[in-house]
Amino acid sequence: MTVAKYFDEMSYGPAPEADTEAREWLARHTSGFGHFINGAFVASASARSFDTFEPATGKVLAKLATGGAEDVDNAVAAARKAQVSWARLPGHARARHLYALARMIQRHARLIAVVEAIDNGKPIRETRDLDVPLAARHFYHHAGWAQIQDTEFADHVPVGVVGQIIPWNFPFLMLAWKVAPALALGNAVVLKPAEFTSLTALLFAELASAAGLPPGVLNIVTGDGETGALLVGHEDIDKIAFTGSTEVGRVIRERTAGSGKSLTLELGGKSPFIVFDDADIDGAVEGVVDAIWFNQGQVCCAGSRLLVHEGIADIFHERLKRRMQTLRVGQPLDKCIDMGAIIAPVQLTRIEALVNKGVSEGATLHQAKIDMPKGGSFYPPTLLSGVQPTSIVATEEIFGPVAVSMTFRTPEEAIQLANHTRYGLAASLWSETIGLALNVAAKLAAGVVWVNATNLFDAAVGFGGKRESGFGREGGREGCYEYLKPKAWIGRKARPATPAPSPVKPAAGDFTLSTIDRTAKLFIGGKQARPDGNYSRVIASPKGKAIGEVGEGNRKDIRNAVVAARAATAWSNATAHNRAQILYYIAENLSGRADEFAARITAMTGASAASAKAEIDAAISRLFTYAAWADKYEGVVHQPPLRGVALAMPEAIGVVGVICPPEAPLLGLVSLVAPLIATGNRVVVVPSEPYPLSATDFYSILETSDLPAGVVNIVTGSAIELAKTLAAHNDVDAVWAFGSTELSAMVEKLSSGNLKRTFVDNGKATDWMDRAAAEGALYLRRAVDVKNIWIPYGE
Ligand code: NAI
Repeated sequence: MTVAKYFDEMSYGPAPEADTEAREWLARHTSGFGHFINGAFVASASARSFDTFEPATGKVLAKLATGGAEDVDNAVAAARKAQVSWARLPGHARARHLYALARMIQRHARLIAVVEAIDNGKPIRETRDLDVPLAARHFYHHAGWAQIQDTEFADHVPVGVVGQIIPWNFPFLMLAWKVAPALALGNAVVLKPAEFTSLTALLFAELASAAGLPPGVLNIVTGDGETGALLVGHEDIDKIAFTGSTEVGRVIRERTAGSGKSLTLELGGKSPFIVFDDADIDGAVEGVVDAIWFNQGQVCCAGSRLLVHEGIADIFHERLKRRMQTLRVGQPLDKCIDMGAIIAPVQLTRIEALVNKGVSEGATLHQAKIDMPKGGSFYPPTLLSGVQPTSIVATEEIFGPVAVSMTFRTPEEAIQLANHTRYGLAASLWSETIGLALNVAAKLAAGVVWVNATNLFDAAVGFGGKRESGFGREGGREGCYEYLKPKAWIGRKARPATPAPSPVKPAAGDFTLSTIDRTAKLFIGGKQARPDGNYSRVIASPKGKAIGEVGEGNRKDIRNAVVAARAATAWSNATAHNRAQILYYIAENLSGRADEFAARITAMTGASAASAKAEIDAAISRLFTYAAWADKYEGVVHQPPLRGVALAMPEAIGVVGVICPPEAPLLGLVSLVAPLIATGNRVVVVPSEPYPLSATDFYSILETSDLPAGVVNIVTGSAIELAKTLAAHNDVDAVWAFGSTELSAMVEKLSSGNLKRTFVDNGKATDWMDRAAAEGALYLRRAVDVKNIWIPYGE
């Protein structure tokens, strides 16, 4: 094309970014890279390797080592050794290292951006303007947390050695999201990049080494899912942080169950993009471009489900199609393109298959009729409209440049459609009416909500999902806690074996009628309910004297309790003041009957009168603590370096199953239930199995304290059996389980179905009288999910 012709047509010509330096860097590694272990590149002990390809051309880019068991062992050993001295460094020293890494990224920004574009296939415009600057920002931000760690996280220590597994869609940015907080807070890392895109991680290793990062603090082992699995299964790793598909997340959850490893999962999504009839339509159309065509739609939080108000659907779709026609798909290094290549042929085939399926299910297909590059893996911007909410393209993550669209008539219907998904990562909503936008934002089941915007990220603002989009947050203060553990829990000892129930001695007179009369039922939906199986169990004193009976709950009782808890939504929407007041009432009513409750503990456990009284006093005080926190455990407003602010709002998780520890029959229950209900959750509680009578006595306290029906449900019986039903229940959002190691492992494993949040003690006993270990923010943090709502603010 001649210059005159360009002037004639006013179309864009190619504006390629030079790749000389990137190709030279690759040329220096033609014999392969090896792994980065203990500060140096080493050949793979597995002696296996694989090729990595350039998505835009299909050509081989480099040879990478396949990490085997020995490589992973070496990397973990190097990390273990380095972590000790790294954590001992003053925060300021670590801050300087993080700062040096940030500066290094900035100094080599263009090289990283070009390598990333070549390796991943995404446009240079994105790697240059987003991936790399945001990665640098993460290192700056976390340099700051390292600097103030000793004051801001004084009651925590680093987790230790962290295994990090990242996907291919944002290779460098995901590395930064994982590595920056881990290192800043004193951990050492073994990172496995995605097999499609390992190059910028290896380049980063070179840069980190040149920046003087101590050997062993950062290790990189390349390889595929098998290498990832070796890392996950390694017994000397303290934590796994994973970003990738929900399927693999689920496997990792099961694999780490019972290992004591801490886990965060950032998984898939099918995020709604809601356009109301009062939206700025052109703004929203541009939003769709950023939501689903950014990074070829290979974005976990892509706004892939368009929900459009019926009244504007025609005009919106018309303008969207017009805009699609102006998108440019081309070579990643062309500075004028909007979309580059799909990561790999296998992914392209998957996208094509899903789109065909959508069409066969009745969706209308629209693809921009634009020039497509030849060769490589490219897919055009695509819109499937008239999609049924239940169809596969509306429910499955396509992970490609494919928007599916549906219409709605009312805001309520929009919310219903938006939340009609097993995921809960992000949501974008468009309306010029602040009341409507913020009302809807509060009701969306998503970890991140963007108002009149989409795909905004910042190191200071937590990112992460609900439901099957995983758990844990990256970024900001919440993200820091994922790499720390509480000092108060260090040195906890294995819980002594639960005393076997004393055999009831059938001496005459033990089974008096008055005892039997007080047989406790279950407590479900605010009412005492007979157990479904109509069985009871006798509770005996340490000396084998029958002191009461409780119902033997079964899976049906748990299911009824979950239904009751699910229905008690008003509690989650109640004001914090209201919840606080009720917690104070519970405390006051317990206080009025303190002697009776203390006597019951003594009768069940044989505890001295003084220690039983101390337990009751601590329970009353703990209820006051959470009443106090109810209206003080609040959100914050982040001020990211982008337009607007982000409201970080702690939200109740929902319905939580609670398996109380065997010891401390009343205090254990109060310590777990009070933080949950203070923050608006509804609970199904399985009380101490050997000593359940404090819980059944507690019904009358709850009944007289104005606690709405269904907020606390209590099912007595076998802890392990009832926990099994709770952990596998798809309408339970979290399970807190305190008891045996077997209980922890089982709960974690069965939780993988709907990826519920778990909080378990791995059989370690908590001293419930110790306020530092047993109350406060440690528990409140686990009782909520933080939702980050980005809203326009100022200019
Ligand atoms: P993936 O989840 O298989 O891979 C992500 C990372 O996990 C890679 O580093 C991989 O090597 C590793 N991995 C795979 N199996 C593992 C195992 N058993 N144990 C430990 N690590 C393991 O994702 P993949 O196969 O690359 O893409 C498949 C689909 O996953 C995509 O079509 C997309 O729907 C989804 N996906 C979602 C992402 C997200 O950010 N939500 C990112 C990448 C993919």
